[in-house]
Formats: sequence, structure tokens, C-alpha cells
Amino acid sequence: MTSAVTIPRHGGTGERTAVAARARQVVKAYGSGETRVVALDQVDVDIARGRFTAIMGPSGSGKSTLMHCLAGLDTVSAGKIYLDETEITGLKDKKLTQLRRDRIGFIFQAFNLLPTLNALENITLPMDIAGRKP
Ligand SMILES: Nc1ncnc2c1ncn2[C@@H]1O[C@H](COP(=O)(O)OP(=O)(O)OP(=O)(O)O)[C@@H](O)[C@H]1O
Ligand SMILES: [Mg+2]
Repeated sequence: MTSAVTIPRHGGTGERTAVAARARQVVKAYGSGETRVVALDQVDVDIARGRFTAIMGPSGSGKSTLMHCLAGLDTVSAGKIYLDETEITGLKDKKLTQLRRDRIGFIFQAFNLLPTLNALENITLPMDIAGRKP
């Protein structure tokens, strides 16, 4: 996947930025040598706060890989990911775990839903564990 959408940031209110998550020149390669697959090839993208964003593309184009990298669930091979103003690439494991717990809800493409919870409860589970209100 290569590509990009750019969303303007707030003008100097001191509030949170209009961008919730951003990728800068993100590369993600799986494997090595002959089996190396470059799933993300220098991706720049801004995900706007408070809006639904759909990432579309053919099977194997890197949508899930991008989502996993944006959410700090997987590491990148190169480039940077920011959540708000925090660069998460390079965070130590403990900080990253805290950030995922406090700020990320994730519904996986397959298999990882908790069947006793509904969709909303699956999304808010990390915050529920952290004792916070979404
Ligand atoms: N763990 C992995 N190890 C090796 N290659 C992988 C791994 N995960 C994904 N890939 C490869 O990376 C590329 C992107 O895969 P990804 O799952 O991100 O695509 P996708 O757009 O989500 O596809 P789909 O629409 O089928 O869900 C594909 O070529 C895939 O085979
Ligand atoms: Mg996928």
C-alpha cells in the first residue's frame, strides 16, 4: 500500500489536533530474502479525529497491516506512527502497553472477539479494564 490523505490541523487553539493518528513514511516488510513481502511502502496518512475513516483496497494490499501498525499492535520496519502528538514507534513495551490500554479499541478481522461481549463492549474493553469512561 502506498498513498495518502492529508487533513488540516487546528489553527492554534492549543486543543488536541484534528488528527487522531498519523503515519509518516511507514514501511512494513514481512520475512526476509526471497520470501520478503513489503506490505506497506512509505505510507503517509492522517486519520481525522471524530470521523469514520474507511481504508479500502484489494485483498493483500496492506489494510490490516496498516491498522495494526497505527494501533501499536505491530512494529514498523521504518517510518513513524503518531497518536495525537505521541510518537509510538520507539516506545518501550510498558509505555506502549499502557497507551494501547488507555487509548485504543480494536476489533480484529477474525477470531479475537470476546463472544460474551457485544461489539461496543469489545471496543471499550481496554478502557473498562483501566477503569475509565470512553
Ligand atoms: N504475518 C505475516 N507474515 C508474512 N506476510 C504477511 C503477514 N501478514 C500479512 N502478510 C502479507 O502482507 C501483505 C498485506 O497483508 P494484509 O493482511 O495487511 O492485507 P489486507 O489488505 O488486510 O488483506 P485482506 O483484504 O485480505 O484482509 C500480503 O501480501 C500478506 O500476504
Ligand atoms: Mg485484512
